[in-house]
Amino acid sequence: MISKIESLGTGTGKIVSSTNDCEDILRLSQEEILELFKSSGVVLFRGFGVTPIVMKQFSKKFSCSYLKDPTKTSIESVDFVNSVDNGMDASPPHTEHGANPYQPDVIWFCCQTPAQEGGETLFWDGVQLWKEMSKHLKQLFVEKKLKFAFENVPLDILNQWIDGGETIDDCKQVLDNFEDFSYQINEDSTFSLKYIRSAVVKTKYGNQDAFANFLWASHTRGWEIFEDGSKLSNEVADELQKLYDKFTQEISWQAGDLAMIDNSRFMHGRRKFKDNRRRVFTTIAKILD
Ligand SMILES: [Fe+2]
Repeated sequence: MISKIESLGTGTGKIVSSTNDCEDILRLSQEEILELFKSSGVVLFRGFGVTPIVMKQFSKKFSCSYLKDPTKTSIESVDFVNSVDNGMDASPPHTEHGANPYQPDVIWFCCQTPAQEGGETLFWDGVQLWKEMSKHLKQLFVEKKLKFAFENVPLDILNQWIDGGETIDDCKQVLDNFEDFSYQINEDSTFSLKYIRSAVVKTKYGNQDAFANFLWASHTRGWEIFEDGSKLSNEVADELQKLYDKFTQEISWQAGDLAMIDNSRFMHGRRKFKDNRRRVFTTIAKILD
């Protein structure tokens, strides 16, 4: 039984704390944790001294498969566990892998060493953002879909993201199963990929509308935003910035913390930091239904 549960931030998030110095996180009830995760969307486990190896072991209890992430540095000792400390910049709100159709249900983070200052992981509840959004902004995002397009992607790069197989035909079989996705194979055997999706999605648990997407990360990179090739107007960008600022929640890391975030409902990001000793690791997975 989980004995100590408190609120995390101002929303639905929860903190599960260890009841003593040597409590083993692997002995927590899988069923209870899953129920807590479904209802709260963000669970922080504190005081269990979680390492990257333990994060992987614990996450296995809830996962049917793991996803690759070539944008991060993998750690050799544990498959599918990556460091998130490649840079020290702030990271804007985004869902993990939100620019492509092969997205994880859950993103896990564990902290080995927090930054002395800054480096908090931030999160935003997409259900709350959608409820609080102005009528005209909602109308915009109902009417216009988001576009994520990638040109001339070589097979080996594509295979760093998905297990597409070694040949183009193998890869086609995988790509054909993705929804809201189209692709073409160019004369030089590279791929052009296009993923069109709404900025508003249904949450995995509860089927609620959530503004959970990769839009702001695209905007900060200067990418085209909408299906018609347009970008955000200054007015819309200002309004969104205010909305994100108002509803930012944060995890102020302690060594040994583990966080579990519902990627269908919550976006995450981080504050910048200047401490090169910070060590935070992540793994992303499809969850057991
Ligand atoms: Fe991320």
